[in-house]
Amino acid sequence: MNQSSRDGFTSSFGVLVATLGSAVGLGNIWKFPSLTGANGGAGFLLVYLLATLLVGLPVMIVETMLGRAARANAVSAFERVAPRRQWWWKSIGWMGFAAALLILAFYSEVAGWVYAYVFKAMAGQIATTDPQIAGAVFAELVANPLSALFWQWVVLAVTGSIIMFGVAKGIEAVTRKLMPLLFILLLVLCARSLTLPGASAGLQFLFSPDLAKITPAVLLTALGLAFFKLSIGMGCMLTYGSYFRDNQNIPVTATRVMFADLSVSLLAGIAIFPAVFAFGFEPAAGPSLVFMTIPAVFTAMPGGTLFMTLFFILTAIASVGAMLSLLEVPVAILSERYGLGRKRASLTTIGVVAVLGVPAALSASLTSEAKVFAMNPFDLFDFLSSNVLLPLGGILICLFVGWVYGLPEMARQLSNDGALRNRRLVSVVFFLVRFVAPLSIAAVLLHGLKLF
Ligand code: PFF
Repeated sequence: MNQSSRDGFTSSFGVLVATLGSAVGLGNIWKFPSLTGANGGAGFLLVYLLATLLVGLPVMIVETMLGRAARANAVSAFERVAPRRQWWWKSIGWMGFAAALLILAFYSEVAGWVYAYVFKAMAGQIATTDPQIAGAVFAELVANPLSALFWQWVVLAVTGSIIMFGVAKGIEAVTRKLMPLLFILLLVLCARSLTLPGASAGLQFLFSPDLAKITPAVLLTALGLAFFKLSIGMGCMLTYGSYFRDNQNIPVTATRVMFADLSVSLLAGIAIFPAVFAFGFEPAAGPSLVFMTIPAVFTAMPGGTLFMTLFFILTAIASVGAMLSLLEVPVAILSERYGLGRKRASLTTIGVVAVLGVPAALSASLTSEAKVFAMNPFDLFDFLSSNVLLPLGGILICLFVGWVYGLPEMARQLSNDGALRNRRLVSVVFFLVRFVAPLSIAAVLLHGLKLF
């Protein structure tokens, strides 16, 4: 199928920013620092880097490729590219459907905290460098069921109204304006954090690895983060790939997105950890880490209130780009397979997420004791999606491309029918997705889940 009959990205730059908009989000600013802090710092970072390069990037390339080859949503794509009788490959798309809804359920809650912090920053309520006060402000927000739900619904209303406009006028138009601003603000933040007295302890934590801290569970968490960060293993990159232009250089685009995404995460880490150590916060604080340290860094600089407000606005915006891509997975499936129409598909998805989101939003209050495998709903949704469904989807995508789709077709697709000279690169990616990625994901998954 050619690109003109469907909605899609309109320029090469549009493809890049939208894809980057999917990758960059709360994962960089909230998840990466809190997981790095909770898992011992530099050792975790090292494993995360390896997982991103050896597994994340190749999976991202082939997943995007499948989408563009099929020009369809995550489920229908496998019907188009798989051999006739192998109908089961489309279960990858359905797993992605489920993963998208689970992620949205807790992601929308964290985005809600960010929205709330925009107003708190403006009102001067978080202008403190005292860990105790900062912790109390955060606890008050999340422990109140009404405010938790209210902010989540605001997030769903905002993202729901953008997604209805479609790919070019909704997703692309919004992300191309906002990504550059986020970069600049992060740089300002890093400069302030690095010049705080005692900043070096934070850098040491982030950059000098202690290999003893790398356990099987840490490996699984790092791998899960690599998948989550690059929005892979669940049909999201596949869906975006289906909107790519015919002449887009997929390996180059994916590599650029990966490096840009990594830089945002590292900048966030450099902005946060020196401050954690300078002001005596606890690096292992978990999900609350960012909401306490970022205000502290800003409070300690001139014009703090203004910058702090701007920072949370931009983080809110970054979360929008990622959420749009998450929403696009079910929206594309519902609208293309069931003829629902863009509007009804969007409303249905938002409705389902609003319901699924309730237990996640109330995890610090009413549902805190509703534990499955010792996790409250928020943690459970996060764990099931990032650490189980995404890696599993990743293995299946690798097996499909490496053993069914095959090298000749992959080389044709990734070279844009011979227009690009990238045969050697394609062979390396093929080797990684045929052997290295599925085996290492399987080992880490089984070991991390304590199945062997
Ligand atoms: N990559 C996004 C982030 O790091 O915030 C989250 C995400 C978006 C995960 C889209 C999965 C996805 F399909």
